[in-house]
Amino acid sequence: MKPTEAPAQQLLRLVRLLMLLTAAVVLVLAVVVAQLYGPKAAPEPVAADEATQGPPPPGSYHRPATPAPDTAAIPHTAAGREIRYGQELIAHTALYLGPQGSVASLTNGMNCQNCHLEAGTRGFANNYLAVAATYPKLRARSGTVEGIEKRVADCMERSLNGRAVPDRSREMRAMVAYLKWLGQGIPKGQKVYGTGLVKLPYLDRPADPRIGRAVYAAKCQRCHGPTGQGQQLADRREYQYPPLWGPASYNDGAGLFRVSNFAKYVKAAMPFGATFDHPQLTDEQAWDVAAFVNSQPRPHLPTPHDWPDIRQKPVDYPFGPYADAFPEQQHKFGPYQPIEAAHRPPAAAH
Ligand code: HEC
Ligand code: HEC
Repeated sequence: MKPTEAPAQQLLRLVRLLMLLTAAVVLVLAVVVAQLYGPKAAPEPVAADEATQGPPPPGSYHRPATPAPDTAAIPHTAAGREIRYGQELIAHTALYLGPQGSVASLTNGMNCQNCHLEAGTRGFANNYLAVAATYPKLRARSGTVEGIEKRVADCMERSLNGRAVPDRSREMRAMVAYLKWLGQGIPKGQKVYGTGLVKLPYLDRPADPRIGRAVYAAKCQRCHGPTGQGQQLADRREYQYPPLWGPASYNDGAGLFRVSNFAKYVKAAMPFGATFDHPQLTDEQAWDVAAFVNSQPRPHLPTPHDWPDIRQKPVDYPFGPYADAFPEQQHKFGPYQPIEAAHRPPAAAH
């Protein structure tokens, strides 16, 4: 008798259907939970070179630079106030130490931050994160072991074309405190990803100031001005766009006066808004504009004691004497590979 059997069977089918549905839902849930809370896929291994020096090899430009600690975490103590003052001095050096400085008039009106972007925290824009972990260190330029104070003083005398604050001054102590605070937690001797400047492949020709002049006109002049003089803010105490050459710029003893340092800096930082992972200049444009800007007049700093061992001079150091026979012109503009090859120890004879 069909009609009496049907309800029981129908119920059975319904129960089976429900069980199937429940199983499906449980399965989907399990997958979602596993995705959210399960073990993470192992991160891509990082080549040692990429981790310490940069630039990242092609294809990995998107990796963020190691972030600096959050300045909001600077404690509200006497020590914390000193760190904050150090950060302020690095960001707005001219307000305190420039020609109209409120503390003293020692430097040329630029800010440390003009070259050490975001107070030295931006990746590959002369980033400071390695400083605390790597100083004191033996620097070949002076041939001596330098502490952080000496390195800061160097930039005041060269990049800021002025005089340094004394080691024991409130200002020096504050800048050093800030640099140490930035490097907190980075083990001694280690460099985290994004410090300093990017590496830039050499050109196989000399960097060309004439091509660089055109790059400058197209990509730099609107901010830095037709004669590289920059643009002051209305109060004339700080620059909106810092000078690139002329009497108010860095002197010829400064790190940026080396064509390679300038090229590396602008590759990862200029025109303003560019970053190491979103550069706006080709490698050639970076080298050529560096050659152009560093061929323009600027203050001279006699540095007779630099590089006491001339064999240690970087290939692009633009002042002789050299331990090789290449002319100053080639040291300044390249090509650098032949110079490097000449310095390499000869391969062992078989
Ligand atoms: C005109 C650009 C410029 C300005 C302005 C400048 N610097 Fe520098 N600074 C550099 C460059 C370029 C280097 C790296 C040079 C090199 O290694 O040859 C550097 C290196 C340093 C280093 C060493 C970094 C390291 O990891 O070894 C410290 C510390 C430093 N600067 C501090 C300062 C302070 C503090 C100020 C301001 C008082 C300042 N700099 C202003 C360009 C500048
Ligand atoms: C949109 C405006 C703008 C453009 C375009 C621009 N810059 Fe800059 N540049 C700046 C600013 C602003 C700073 C200072 C950054 C800071 O203090 O945070 C700076 C800093 C610099 C510095 C370090 C400080 C100094 O004066 O020595 C160099 C070198 C530099 N720029 C080179 C270039 C070059 C080369 C180009 C063209 C490829 C260029 N800039 C294009 C705005 C610009």
